[in-house]
Amino acid sequence: MDTHDSIHTHILSNPSSNDLLVAARALQNGELVAIPTETVYGLGANGLDAEAMDKIYAAKGRPSDNPLILHVPSIDSIRPLVKAIPKTAYQLMETFWPGPLTITLPKSDLVPYRATGGLERVALRCPDHDICRQLLSLAGVPIAAPSANISGRPSPTTAQAVYEDMNGRILYIVDAGPCSIGVESTVVEVQEDAVIILRPGGITKEMLETVVSTVTYDKALSSDAKPKAPGMKYKHYAPDAPMTAFVGNAQDVAIAIDKYVHSLTRQQGEIVSHDFVHIAKACNVGYLLSKEVYEALQPTILTDVPVNCIHVYGHHGDAVSLAHDFYSALLSFNEAKVTHIIAEGVQPEGLGVAVMNRMEKASGGHIEYL
Ligand code: TXA
Ligand code: MG
Repeated sequence: MDTHDSIHTHILSNPSSNDLLVAARALQNGELVAIPTETVYGLGANGLDAEAMDKIYAAKGRPSDNPLILHVPSIDSIRPLVKAIPKTAYQLMETFWPGPLTITLPKSDLVPYRATGGLERVALRCPDHDICRQLLSLAGVPIAAPSANISGRPSPTTAQAVYEDMNGRILYIVDAGPCSIGVESTVVEVQEDAVIILRPGGITKEMLETVVSTVTYDKALSSDAKPKAPGMKYKHYAPDAPMTAFVGNAQDVAIAIDKYVHSLTRQQGEIVSHDFVHIAKACNVGYLLSKEVYEALQPTILTDVPVNCIHVYGHHGDAVSLAHDFYSALLSFNEAKVTHIIAEGVQPEGLGVAVMNRMEKASGGHIEYL
């Protein structure tokens, strides 16, 4: 039997102020509590308590050199956690907090190395989520919280998805409904008056440029260089089935998907049967598509595809809708037990950079720009 199975996991739905107090106490006492944020659900523990944070690594199966983000309810509450707040960092916090921006700064002695994976910098974020911030205020300590999934799997954007991965491993899940953004925060390192994006996310490069003149991406995002965010080197967000993605105008994407599905059914057909109906069924594909591409393919390859294998996220090129639906679509395809996933991506601009970074990882780099 799995040793985690001894914990009974409670979901606190529509949490009352008493529920939040109970969750805050549990966090103070070194227990794990999943918390809602505007990006994805986090797996929270007291960020000043190394033993509590050990439990995060155990529950997720997370590599121990991958540092955690400390979540705080306000700018003021980071003062004891850092050596100093440089002017540029302060301007970014004033502009984008509360919000999906994580800033790394040199840590004070109060922050255990367990929170930073041994690094001298600590990652800090103030979520734009009322219930989360109420909980952080009640806890009175910074809450270390990675995404609340088992390492390597898609991040959870609903309490139900957290439950799937964390049932039996944590005490509470604070359920505040689906996350509004759907992809994780932008992680930046501030150097004097320049900013390096270590992980693209909800706050885009263009948004950062309204505050800081020099904004660059960490070289590791576009090459094999060692990433400054240790977590970026690991396998991530992977659905159970292999995924292939296509990006281009709607018509080209529809043509490419049609062609790809025919090649897939041919491959499968050789193994399974020469009867075409049998062949089509044997290849159980999950589709993540825009409305336009869905409509183009509906009369042909999608005719007999079950509804739980098709996810339409919004209009062609709508990065906001794709971000919102991406992880939940991958998890629904896991549930449908598809054998392949075909996804339509968006251009890597604005929020599209963050979405395509996740898609790149989820597909193991199988993205065709048409
Ligand atoms: O939106 C989010 O950021 C969510 C919610 C729950 O707040 N959290 C999240 O945490 O995505 P996690 O642990 O899944 O990702 C944190 C990322 C990792 O890539 C990690 O390596 C990087 O932040 N990171 C954390 N501390 C760092 C540090 N001191 N220096 C560089 N990178 C750091
Ligand atoms: Mg994560």
